[in-house]
Amino acid sequence: MNSGLRAAIAGVGAYVPAKVLTNADFERMVDTSDEWITKRTGIKERHIAEEGESTVSMAIEASRRACKNAGIEPGELDMIACATITPDTLCPSSACYIQQGLGAPEAAVFDLSAACSGFVYCLAIARRFIEAGQFKNCLVIGAETISRFTDYEDRGSCILFGDGAGAVVLKPTEDDAKGIRYTVMHADGKGWDYIWIPAGGSKLPASQQTVEQRLHYLKMRGRDVYKFAIEKMQWLLEDCMKACDLTPDDVDLVVPHQVNIRILKSATEKLKFPMEKVYVNIDRYGNTSAASIPIALDEAVRSGRIGPGSTVLLIAFGAGLTWAGAVVKL
Ligand code: COA
Repeated sequence: MNSGLRAAIAGVGAYVPAKVLTNADFERMVDTSDEWITKRTGIKERHIAEEGESTVSMAIEASRRACKNAGIEPGELDMIACATITPDTLCPSSACYIQQGLGAPEAAVFDLSAACSGFVYCLAIARRFIEAGQFKNCLVIGAETISRFTDYEDRGSCILFGDGAGAVVLKPTEDDAKGIRYTVMHADGKGWDYIWIPAGGSKLPASQQTVEQRLHYLKMRGRDVYKFAIEKMQWLLEDCMKACDLTPDDVDLVVPHQVNIRILKSATEKLKFPMEKVYVNIDRYGNTSAASIPIALDEAVRSGRIGPGSTVLLIAFGAGLTWAGAVVKL
């Protein structure tokens, strides 16, 4: 089955809405403070979709930029995978609208729901289609409008989340020095209620009661998520390095899901992995779920922090519970 091809990242793009919510804004909305939010999470501000913006509109903009950076026209795409838990509609998938908006009439499309791990899940899937020789140009998107599912009366969760989209174009390469080296995906459904949105699905459809009880908003067991996240981020970092026989010296950058600066510091401290090699932009974007890794990757590439030849680790965990990692040679 294996064609000898590798899947390489040919271009990255991102988009975040212009509107910003700062910690000072939250001080006016709920009983919190800039000091508490900064100390407990590392977040200072997040971008929030304005009226008329949505997961699809942001994904299209990020995807256009990724295609441009990859030197391809959207019409050349063979597959579009969109990781999101905040799709524009339950049916059809966001990827269908994205395909139409981009003008990619030949592409196979699907959404994938693995919350904050979704982008890495999609990357792992697209990689295999390319390696098998079935598809050439694959667009992998992480896009979220979490603000539309955030309860701005719940101070324990509302301060965390932001909106945005990021995308990469994967292409086949025969160059052995490039491409995705390793991907890993896991889940543990026992943790389904750590982070979830109770209503709006087939079990509890929308009704006056579900709206009144605020059941369409994301619910989170923050402390439990916190402990789980440290354990899994640490495991992923160790597993990715071990699988590719890497030491911290061999790694140019870890681009983790931007979850909480304390979680990232604890996970790396235990492994004595240097924080200078961990990309952090949570202060400016908050937690954008599936979009966080491609947004950070785009920044790291555009700022010249990483480039051709860099060894990059992507690690994420999220609702489900899910966790996933990748080792990529740019
Ligand atoms: N401002 C001020 N106080 C707040 C607050 C806020 N925004 N949110 C919670 N608190 C209070 C709590 O009510 C609690 O008060 P109490 O001691 O009087 O009961 C106190 O702060 C401690 O709450 P706790 O939940 O134990 O705080 P924490 O140190 O665990 O920090 C999170 C809370 C949410 C920041 C942290 O648990 C976290 O980041 N968890 C991971 C969540 C996550 O990443 N989810 C997405 C996963 S992809």
